[in-house]
Amino acid sequence: MKVVMIGAGYVGLVTGACFSEFGFDVTCVDVDETKIKALENGEIPIYEPGLEELVANNCKAGRLTFSTSLAEAVPGADMVFIAVGTPSRRGDGFADLRYVYAAAEQVARNLTGYTTVVTKSTVPVGTGKEVARIVGKFAPVEAEWDVVSNPEFLREGAAIEDFMRPDRVVMGAESERAREQMRQLYRPLSLREVPMVFTDIVTAELIKYAANAFLATKITFINEISDLCEKTGADVQHVAKGIGLDGRIGGKFLHPGPGYGGSCFPKDTLALAYSARQYGAPLRIVEAVVEINDRRKLAMADRVIDALGGAQAARGKKVAVLGLTFKPGTDDMRESPALAIVPALMGAGVEARVFDPQGMDNAKAEIGTGPYYATSAYDALEGADCLAIVTEWNEFRALQLDRVKSLMTNPLMVDMRNIYVPEEMRAAGFTYYGIGRGYDGIVIPSDQVEAAE
Ligand code: NAD
Ligand code: UGA
Repeated sequence: MKVVMIGAGYVGLVTGACFSEFGFDVTCVDVDETKIKALENGEIPIYEPGLEELVANNCKAGRLTFSTSLAEAVPGADMVFIAVGTPSRRGDGFADLRYVYAAAEQVARNLTGYTTVVTKSTVPVGTGKEVARIVGKFAPVEAEWDVVSNPEFLREGAAIEDFMRPDRVVMGAESERAREQMRQLYRPLSLREVPMVFTDIVTAELIKYAANAFLATKITFINEISDLCEKTGADVQHVAKGIGLDGRIGGKFLHPGPGYGGSCFPKDTLALAYSARQYGAPLRIVEAVVEINDRRKLAMADRVIDALGGAQAARGKKVAVLGLTFKPGTDDMRESPALAIVPALMGAGVEARVFDPQGMDNAKAEIGTGPYYATSAYDALEGADCLAIVTEWNEFRALQLDRVKSLMTNPLMVDMRNIYVPEEMRAAGFTYYGIGRGYDGIVIPSDQVEAAE
């Protein structure tokens, strides 16, 4: 089977490489010539664990190739996937589908024989119908085709594992021929007993948005519970465990933090809320989640400022910010909480000393010249009055605390990911603030904590 992937970004490149690993003949097409040149030279334009090796092996085996020419790649293909970006452009949540529609038109013009045109990009309900209309308009009369929706659920940083061992594969297909082709493509996964969910196209589209919105809601729920923990003296880690052990709730995605970021949750929650309003069925829960999450990212800078003793005291202080990407295991800065926190700190007159294991180049491009870009975590800590952990990279989990203390002017830590144990940090001589950890939290002053002990 010959597969063409339009768009060689996170999703297109990972899924294209994984399909070639299954043994299919895959061509990844992208309009970005620099990206395609880099890929042809064996360079991977994104940081994704395991991807470089996967791409190299399949290129070597002759199963994975790259091209900038859709007109050369598409003719003769059995399946063409559209995996281009669907960004949020207008600020109101509207999903910009121009890349999807442009790709659909170009694909249509080059169809020969029977081809399944599959939307892998995350798109609002109804997009598949429009893709079918476009393909119908521009495809040669002799071409035969079906449109399918096959949303992708992989996470950055764990993309290959998520693709190879997904919880399910969702396919919105409305003809037996298209369903059969999808079955053949995912056969290696169905042999591993991965559930295959066949639906119509609009349902598949809605499953994707609903899944992301539900996960974003779960995170926002535990974040709000963590605020309540801080007011009441409860420990959110135990609350999360206590509720997560209930099989109906589940323990995943209950880690409190500085608010969700990334290229998908923020844009997809906005887009779902927007499209629900258009259909006259507003999703008030999702709208609240979006608003709470936006506010939370900014409120994180205030926590650091409060920990430093308030706005006056914070002025001129140095804060080491560890972790800039929206989560570990990626170099992606899109909608990262750090993009709200670092500028807010600088706006409050704080000197930010920032470090990230993979995100430094993207951070420089997004944040600009304001902060000091450190060469390591310890470099960032030199002379710091406060350490703020924003992203839970593994290398920040076991910092040498004596060294940290000797580098800092003041051993003060605001741990936005709860990767340290409050009692251990206090024993090591730190003033420690986690998220939602009762009297270790930021709300109750430290002298009261000592009195309580
Ligand atoms: P991306 O921005 O990393 O990649 C998109 C690529 O498409 C770019 O390289 C761009 O140059 C290319 N492109 C645009 N128009 C093109 C055209 N006409 N022909 C060929 N190439 C074209 O985006 P991404 O993160 O891979 O996301 C793609 C889609 O998948 C989005 O809808 C996103 O919501 C969804 N998604 C992303 C993830 C993720 O983890 N990033 C996970 C699941 C779903
Ligand atoms: C997310 C989904 O998990 C994927 O299933 C989906 O395919 C993808 O979006 C998409 O549609 O693009 P991703 O954005 O890569 O994947 O990252 P996640 O691991 O989901 O994390 C998103 C954000 O939520 C991060 O900022 C992370 O720190 C935060 N998060 C996650 C929490 O704050 N707490 C948690 O318990 C989990």
